Amino acid sequence: MYNIAIMGCGKIAPRIANGIIYSDGLLYAVASRDKERAKAFALKYPTCKFMNYEELLADEKVDLIYIATINETHYDLIKRCLNAGKNVICEKPMLPTQEKIKEVFALAREKGCFLMEAHKTCFTVLNTLLRTRVEEIGPIQRIEAKYCGDIDVSKLKGNISMEPTMGGACFDIGVYPICFANLYAKSPLTNVEIVSTESLGYPVDIETVAKLTYENGIVADVKASWRDPTVNKGILYGEKGRIEIVNFWKNTEATIYIGDTAETVKVEQASDFTGEVNEALRCLKEGKLTSDIMSEEASLEICKVLEELKKHYQ
Ligand SMILES: NC(=O)c1ccc[n+]([C@@H]2O[C@H](COP(=O)([O-])OP(=O)(O)OC[C@H]3O[C@@H](n4cnc5c(N)ncnc54)[C@H](OP(=O)(O)O)[C@@H]3O)[C@@H](O)[C@H]2O)c1
Repeated sequence: MYNIAIMGCGKIAPRIANGIIYSDGLLYAVASRDKERAKAFALKYPTCKFMNYEELLADEKVDLIYIATINETHYDLIKRCLNAGKNVICEKPMLPTQEKIKEVFALAREKGCFLMEAHKTCFTVLNTLLRTRVEEIGPIQRIEAKYCGDIDVSKLKGNISMEPTMGGACFDIGVYPICFANLYAKSPLTNVEIVSTESLGYPVDIETVAKLTYENGIVADVKASWRDPTVNKGILYGEKGRIEIVNFWKNTEATIYIGDTAETVKVEQASDFTGEVNEALRCLKEGKLTSDIMSEEASLEICKVLEELKKHYQ
């Protein structure tokens, strides 16, 4: 069984730990800059060791590190992990530029290590099933996806979410609809149009709407917002029908509409993080350095949209 360690004991770490517990791997360790924080975290998981980053990188029993730290730390930590010979999953958004993404994947190849951006959307039980059934609605023509929320943006002042390099609604939650659209479009992006973006005077976007055009002719409308309380959905429109998925990045239920019929599809899922962890473990078993689904190319395609948005905030 592969030993997995989480780097960073922040808000998302308990959910990742839960995902690992239900995976084919072992939650071997957690690491924090502050070892006391790692100790407090590890107490909840009987088999889990706690350490600082240096100890984690030096521990030969660690097979895979899941980087769960704030966005701005990803670049340095990915390189530190790879240089220590560790396989890596890194939380979304992995990096702010395609140049940096190419650099870390090149380093992973050089070191013979696995590297993947964590986009659980690609590996939920529901999306894995729907990808095998999507042809039932005929060829996809259009995709809509939004991930929005309604938060008091003024409270984010001085927060890392407002940091110009990797902050803002699109880096935070916009990457989910972009990933969803790319996953089902299955074609390279040929055009990214930022239809609208609103900063409300902050240095980052509070709301962004983008239109993505793919080589195969599919068009996707994606939206991220911190000021929109309406229901979040991904909708795939095919020639014969449509598939609607509320909270498409984690949900266990979708509806397939064809003609007058509406079929509810339901699946079981212990954790929305397990699928992506199992994908990494499958790749390790097969000696692959990248996932075929969440590949370097897939990370670059998501980053294309983020780079286009950044042009509005220079
Ligand atoms: N996949 C998902 O569903 C999902 C959901 C939410 C967030 N995320 C992603 O997960 C990552 C972490 O998000 P989070 O909400 O857990 O963040 P967080 O709680 O604010 O911070 C996570 C960890 O980052 C490290 N850190 C914080 N501030 C730092 C600083 N100034 N310098 C260096 N390290 C610092 C700390 O690690 P130590 O414990 O080592 O000090 C902290 O525990 C982000 O990339 C985010 O986009 C993913």
